[in-house]
Amino acid sequence: MSGMKLRKRPSKQIHAALLALPLFLLVCSTAMGGPREQAKRMHDRLAGVPPTSTTLDLMVDEIVNNNDPLAAAMIAVEHDDFYNVTVKNWATPWTNEEQTVFAPLNDYSATVIGMVRDEEPFNQLLSADILYVGSNAPAYSVSDNAHYEAMEDQGLNLKDVLVKTTQSGETGIPSSGAAGVISTRAAARAFFIDGTNRGMFRFTMLNHLCTDLELIKDPTRSSDRVRQDVSHSPGGDSRVYFNNCLGCHAGMEPLAEAYAYYNYQYPAGNEEAGSLDYTPGIVQPKYLINSNNFKDGYITVDDSWINYWREGPNSVLGWDTSLPGSGNGAASMGQELANSHAFAECQVTKAFEAVCLREPGDSADRAQIDTMTTSFKSGYNMKRVFAEAAVYCAGD
Ligand code: HEC
Repeated sequence: MSGMKLRKRPSKQIHAALLALPLFLLVCSTAMGGPREQAKRMHDRLAGVPPTSTTLDLMVDEIVNNNDPLAAAMIAVEHDDFYNVTVKNWATPWTNEEQTVFAPLNDYSATVIGMVRDEEPFNQLLSADILYVGSNAPAYSVSDNAHYEAMEDQGLNLKDVLVKTTQSGETGIPSSGAAGVISTRAAARAFFIDGTNRGMFRFTMLNHLCTDLELIKDPTRSSDRVRQDVSHSPGGDSRVYFNNCLGCHAGMEPLAEAYAYYNYQYPAGNEEAGSLDYTPGIVQPKYLINSNNFKDGYITVDDSWINYWREGPNSVLGWDTSLPGSGNGAASMGQELANSHAFAECQVTKAFEAVCLREPGDSADRAQIDTMTTSFKSGYNMKRVFAEAAVYCAGD
């Protein structure tokens, strides 16, 4: 090999590389998102609008000078539209049976927005005596939604006007009957209306543990709390009961017993004018209907509940072993659900989807969901989860 050639060629290559370096850095930083692009993207995703130049500068400063993209994202979540649009659209589908985002603001969605804004521990979503109301609107009413619709019609800035209060103070429900968003008027209107209150349980699982009951059927649990209205030989075939019906009802019934004192009462023909009915100590008649379907079925006597899914295949939902797994009433059952791993992962996944505008897909996404879930479980700060998702997806 000739030394001349060897010396010559590398020097040419170095020369070429030096010329290409700025181009390489440019391409690289565009693909990864330079700090300005990252900041812009995070703001767009969190607030739905571009940042002002002042905000952008503050965010870029956090990224470049403090090496703290999360702090940059935490600036973006203070934008009005993070609350007025992003969090509202996030929560609204949970508040109606159709799961549509095109529903008016209500006490359920407003309470979610307020809890995110105030960094209230989000694992109290299904149990706290908490409510957010506004101002510049007709007073909160237990029998209509006018208070919230008026705020929305006037385009009030929810970040500014929402005020934290209690359900017991505002609606007259005893504190022991308050169970976070479960005992809001909007939830009652959607899920305690008619039926047997199993609907509230199903939609709570769907919206807050991200699972439909079909996916977690377990027919190996005890049948002893299944109510009398569930036939044990549907269509004359008891195998159907044991193979199918029991899969949901065995575990669902002893949890849905927690709602035994709740109903949504409305004037005949006017479902929108109703209110939550809470009858401590008195089981709602809807729990005792169609008792002839299976005479030996369970007769609900109170609001005691027990979680049979702590054992068996549904133990993978990750129940909190520091909780007893049984109790009385909607609030303690709400704690049972909201302290499960499935609840935390569900909130994180929903926030990821809202901010990244896609479902988590590859193994990197799944690892990110795990990291964010762990972070969420130390303090249950939902606002921070949104910010973390924005950081992760800033370079998409
Ligand atoms: C995938 C889970 C699942 C399976 C399987 C299932 N159920 Fe249900 N069942 C529910 C839920 C959820 C409700 C509450 C529906 C609502 O009100 O939204 C319900 C409600 C009921 C009701 C109350 C009346 C009503 O329609 O609201 C009866 C009775 C009943 N189921 C019987 C049965 C029987 C009998 C079977 C088997 C043939 C069965 N269920 C299978 C989940 C299930």
